[in-house]
Amino acid sequence: MDDIWKGGKTMSAIIVIGAQWGDEGKGKVTDFLAEKSEVVVRSQGGNNAGHTVINGEEEYKLHLIPSGILNPKSLNLIGNGVVIDLAVILDEIDCLKRRGVSFEHFHISDRAHLIMPYHKILDTLEEQAKADGKIGTTGRGIGPAYVDKVNRVGIRVCDLMDEKEFRRKLQIVLEQKNTLLTKVYGADPLDMESMVAEFMVLAERVRPFVADTSVLLYDALKAGQNVLFEGAQATHLDIDHGTYPFVTSSNPIAGGALTGSGVGPTWVDKVIGVAKSYTTRVGNGPLPTELEDDMGEALRQKGHEFGTTTGRPRRCGWFDAVVVRYSVRVNGITDLALTKLDVLDGIEEIKLCVAYQCGDKILKEFPAALSEMEQCRPIYETMPGWMCDISSCRKFEDLPKEAQDYIARIEELTDAKISIVAVGPERTQTIVRSDF
Ligand code: GDP
Ligand code: IMO
Ligand code: MG
Repeated sequence: MDDIWKGGKTMSAIIVIGAQWGDEGKGKVTDFLAEKSEVVVRSQGGNNAGHTVINGEEEYKLHLIPSGILNPKSLNLIGNGVVIDLAVILDEIDCLKRRGVSFEHFHISDRAHLIMPYHKILDTLEEQAKADGKIGTTGRGIGPAYVDKVNRVGIRVCDLMDEKEFRRKLQIVLEQKNTLLTKVYGADPLDMESMVAEFMVLAERVRPFVADTSVLLYDALKAGQNVLFEGAQATHLDIDHGTYPFVTSSNPIAGGALTGSGVGPTWVDKVIGVAKSYTTRVGNGPLPTELEDDMGEALRQKGHEFGTTTGRPRRCGWFDAVVVRYSVRVNGITDLALTKLDVLDGIEEIKLCVAYQCGDKILKEFPAALSEMEQCRPIYETMPGWMCDISSCRKFEDLPKEAQDYIARIEELTDAKISIVAVGPERTQTIVRSDF
């Protein structure tokens, strides 16, 4: 029986996902774990993501390139589920190369979809048309690119590799888009020939990186290598499980890592949910524990809570255990990485949301209907804070008792063990619990 469960398998595949509304520190956690990973793969999203990695003196803000790129030995992949803005990725590669980062072991899936110029224009126009219901997207064309993928008129990397095929597909889709742009939005039409010329130049630059990344992943897993799936966005921005419609257009949950990379579920050993020690959100939509007072501002300033991609101030609030417990469930989280614990240093009383009061009902699960959510008020528990600097703690035992108690209470409330604790943005400011 034990053999059926363990199968003699060595640890090989770990999925890292966001357990709140993004910007939890997935980049930092991925970079930290990448030291022991032969392969790092991004499986969904696009350059709506902004992952900050700080390694010694150097700070990197990555958008499409996996955070494992800073480990020169690991193979870094962009999976089929990612939507790619070619000019952005090529620029990101050039910038990183100028800083000495190697792209010798880097590939892009031939099945990944392209973000086209009309996607970016439509992202902005559709948002403007939404008036009160604006999502607050990053404006990078992500939603419209996924719409075309599902509508089966998307253009993939493999199409770009063949000018005839690229032209054929572009002609069909551009006719539709120009009708939409001119007739619905009163915007200017886009010119086919100049777009083909622009994309053929980009095609030659990207060609050396193109591969069937699912095969590369399979070979790596078969050879017993460690593979890390770097999530972008987060569970509560998931198109199925997030606060719809205030979500992104992909599946950032653990299941999405598999469809977005062409890897089967039987390879996965661990799912690490990254959660901030408090909560933040960029863009619109529910944030039950939002603090619109001095405490919210203090968290924003101390935590430098301004978007990596758009620079927008992030909305801040207390830790919401309902939100993270939901993520534990839908992702099958085996371990949590609790980040930015140092940002709570010096707060006398820390609040934790344990449930919601909705009229005369107490809700322990996040409701599907946003109209119900709007009536919910957080029910808080208060814990004593620690009045010292924890940024130099490197072992769990070094943390003050109040911080240890806060961690233990989150474990209880979310039904997950916290195996990693981050106490600063640097790679070294990381505590790994002994049973991880
Ligand atoms: P991601 O999108 O999930 O990768 O997160 P971002 O990089 O957008 O935002 C997280 C921010 O917090 C980055 O600026 C990180 O450098 C920083 N960060 C990560 N972990 C910690 C931590 O434990 N403490 C502090 N103070 N900053 C952290
Ligand atoms: P990382 O990977 C935080 C948010 C946007 C907006 C919504 C939809 O850095 O955690 P989109 O442009 O995706 O259609 O916007 O999703 N959003 C993020 N918020 N972190 C991100 O990525 C995000 N990517 C998208 O602000 O509310
Ligand atoms: Mg981010």
